[in-house]
Amino acid sequence: MDDLARVEHLTDLADLLRPSAVRAAATLGVADHIAAGTHDTPSLARLCGARPDVLDALLRYLVSLGLLDRDGDGRYALREAARPLLDDHPFTLREALRLDGVAGRSDMALVDLVHTVRTGEPAHVGLFGRGYWDSLNEDPRHVEAIERAASGQLAFDAEIIFDGYDWASVRSVADIGGNSGTILTGLLNRHPHLHGTLVDLRSVAGVAARNIADSGLADRCEVAPGSFFDPLPAGRDVYLLSAILGDWDDDQAVAILRRCAEAAGSTGRILLADVNLDVVMRGEEAARTELWLRAMMPTPVRTVADLKRLGDAAGLRVSWEGPATPVRSLIEFSAREAAA
Ligand SMILES: C[S@@+](CC[C@H](N)C(=O)[O-])C[C@H]1O[C@@H](n2cnc3c(N)ncnc32)[C@H](O)[C@@H]1O
Repeated sequence: MDDLARVEHLTDLADLLRPSAVRAAATLGVADHIAAGTHDTPSLARLCGARPDVLDALLRYLVSLGLLDRDGDGRYALREAARPLLDDHPFTLREALRLDGVAGRSDMALVDLVHTVRTGEPAHVGLFGRGYWDSLNEDPRHVEAIERAASGQLAFDAEIIFDGYDWASVRSVADIGGNSGTILTGLLNRHPHLHGTLVDLRSVAGVAARNIADSGLADRCEVAPGSFFDPLPAGRDVYLLSAILGDWDDDQAVAILRRCAEAAGSTGRILLADVNLDVVMRGEEAARTELWLRAMMPTPVRTVADLKRLGDAAGLRVSWEGPATPVRSLIEFSAREAAA
């Protein structure tokens, strides 16, 4: 490789325009409009709410990327390679890539990856001055994005929560940071004697309330909008924390556990169903995955011993330890003084 080729190679590696253009197309819904029969730039610009001249530049660039065809009259058609951008594609990438979506918004922070490398903090904090969940929740315009994401909420290995714990001895469960309710509604459907409370930040809680009502569970499940850094609804038998602590550093994780401990009192329990992403950091793509995860969350990997240490720091003792899959572990904590 000569010097010029090396410069070209590095310039290509550092290119930001290509991913931005593909994500702009996903955000505007270009592929869906073309697939629905609109092929000329002025009409596409009207449908996308875009400037025709700039949109045409974007479309021509997508032609050069092999995603669109352009005929002699300047009309555009989709190439096979662009089909995963369609909303109804079986493996659609549209929601994941659109910049006004929950995932696309968090990906944007990758441009400030250097913040994470310097400080260990998620890149979002460096770029926007606050954490991802707070910024998502503070702006009511993001409710639509949260609603769309809710339909695809990952209930990562949730079976272990549904079936790996003695729910028969429990009457009430609070799902802390319960998101749009996928896990809590699944749990309540499986165990019809349970009553639920879902706690999450305001916008997410609103989406959860609708999902719970749509599942016909409103009479057995309430939603309490609020932060898990503030006092939580007291007196539930079990406080479930599923896939929560990885988003926080040790001090914050202990603060969340303390709020749960406070609300659980001397008789309640805290069920930690933590996700350990160590397993996805292995393999050929390990470095890439680790870098991405670290840019998104401060602590993607904690061992069971780490989690027990956090519980101990929050004044809790391990009262039961359940099955662990490679990605999930179940640990029940109770108040330490209840041990006596
Ligand atoms: C990674 S998701 C886990 C969702 C769900 N528990 C699960 O297992 O799929 C983290 C959740 O924590 C919520 N969250 C973030 N900050 C919060 C806060 N300060 N108080 C309450 N919930 C919060 C987010 O809105 C999101 O629903």
